[in-house]
Amino acid sequence: MTDSDIDVLNKRFGAPGRIAFRRGEAGFPVAALVSRYGTCEVSLYGGHVLSYRPTGHGPVLFLSKRSYYEQGKPIRGGIPICWPWFGPGKEPGQPMHGLARLTQWDLRATEYSSDVAELRLSLSDTEQTRRLWPFAFELSLCVRLGQRLSLELTTFNRDAKPFTITQAFHPYLRVRNIQDVTVLGLDQAAFSDCLTRQSGTHVGPLTVRAETDRLFTPLRPECALHDQSLGRVLAMTFSGTPQMVVWNPWIAKDKAMPDFGDDEYTSMICLEPANAKDSPVTLAPGESHTLALALQATLT
Ligand code: BG6
Repeated sequence: MTDSDIDVLNKRFGAPGRIAFRRGEAGFPVAALVSRYGTCEVSLYGGHVLSYRPTGHGPVLFLSKRSYYEQGKPIRGGIPICWPWFGPGKEPGQPMHGLARLTQWDLRATEYSSDVAELRLSLSDTEQTRRLWPFAFELSLCVRLGQRLSLELTTFNRDAKPFTITQAFHPYLRVRNIQDVTVLGLDQAAFSDCLTRQSGTHVGPLTVRAETDRLFTPLRPECALHDQSLGRVLAMTFSGTPQMVVWNPWIAKDKAMPDFGDDEYTSMICLEPANAKDSPVTLAPGESHTLALALQATLT
């Protein structure tokens, strides 16, 4: 994207002091939103929230120093969107976690008021998406920066046949030290472990002391990340799925990922509202489904 394309976005969708566009890494267009409650940045590549900073707090999201910013590769950190499948694809050549995080989205609208700044993006099928996933669709993402950061991802079936998706918001939440955080809200949650294939019921607060890749069904669609050394609680609520994944790559996997700095696993945890393989969504022609997520930080 050129500087004059960015000028066009600013003229059409910008609002002085509240909503502005710039060329980000690799020329990807990035929108910056400001409200009295904080700031956030969204990359049009991937429909990907890159940063979120509520007023009076440090950054809430982790973004790897080694992330790729390259067409065809996902950004490592922020809030990737996994769609229309979560995890590996079923067919050869289908990229991990789907096509939405690897595609440039269209900007549809921006809005602001004294309290809120909002961005609406959309993604529709093209010849390229139909090669990876043979359906007509429309995907819409609303990012709303108010007292909370809220994301709504709506899938519309524009095809003549039904289709089934799995999907997730994949937020990388920044922590001061993974050893000092607990996840609350998973007590009595059924889980299945993606590493050991074991399943069971979780008891008490969750701590992370090893590679973790576990799908939970909490009793309520919410959880809280308590970071003792930051003195911060991050409350997460979600809807559109009863399930969420907790992921941390830990030492060996961290080292094996070329787009992840050594020891960065100590600074993040992913809490991912997900329609995973046992909670897929099937949409008949004309039907839609919304997956939503909201984050709110408070000091302890
Ligand atoms: C998580 C999965 O959601 O994403 C993990 O549960 C996976 O299995 C992780 O390793 C990261 O995936 P990627 O494709 O962004 O490296």
